[in-house]
Amino acid sequence: MTSRFLFVTDLDNTLVGDDDALNQLNQQLSQHRQNYGTKIVYSTGRSLTLYRQLEAEKHLLVPDALVTSVGTEIYYHGSETPDAVWTENLAQEWDREVIVDAASQFPELVPQQESEQRPFKVSYFLPGEVSVKVLPQLETLCALLHTQRGLSIKLIYSGNRDLDFLPKHGGKGAAMQFLRRQWEFAPDHTVACGDSGNDIALFAVGEGYGIIVGNALPELRQWYEANSSSQRYLAKSYYAAGILEGLNHFSFL
Ligand code: GLC
Ligand code: MG
Repeated sequence: MTSRFLFVTDLDNTLVGDDDALNQLNQQLSQHRQNYGTKIVYSTGRSLTLYRQLEAEKHLLVPDALVTSVGTEIYYHGSETPDAVWTENLAQEWDREVIVDAASQFPELVPQQESEQRPFKVSYFLPGEVSVKVLPQLETLCALLHTQRGLSIKLIYSGNRDLDFLPKHGGKGAAMQFLRRQWEFAPDHTVACGDSGNDIALFAVGEGYGIIVGNALPELRQWYEANSSSQRYLAKSYYAAGILEGLNHFSFL
């Protein structure tokens, strides 16, 4: 494409996983950014702390925006302060203490490490075996917290292991829409890439193109099969090679 586009990608097991393919993709994307003003956004479940670790281990481009903690924080150009407009938007109908307290009644939920507990994200480990039983109970809990405490919460379960409580207006999809509008990209000049449950929101916003890498987890594959569309592409290749395949498929590169 000889005009700028918005490129949004998950990191773990999407952009990152094959170092050679990553280098190749980096080269093409940075060239496109230089020539046409394409914007590169990383959208990860990781906190800024864990992003810094990955950044030290892998060769990543400096993104135009970094969306961390499952779409609940947005940082620009290496700044340490998240976008205040986005944060304010999430603060409505949210009270993390109430959620932590309610979740403590579930012995199956094991809190994740401190760095992953964020102002607008409460995260646990929930083993896959018990998730079938516990997830519906948690949905009921969220409905109750809505009617009784006025909270609007959404649950995101990824990789048969990670459970995130987020504000209803948070998530990777909403954060992408926020950036898309702010930077004035048309939906058909937007493409998102992912591999797991917390990426479904990137594809479900229903605007723009989506690339699902070939190594995607069953939770995302099932969603893709149930929601097929010519705007979404399931790549054969894995990781960054799958992204390249998809970008070529949609003629972005
Ligand atoms: C990342 C985060 C973790 C979250 C998971 C799924 O691994 O570190 O807190 O639960 O993504 O969204
Ligand atoms: Mg991932």
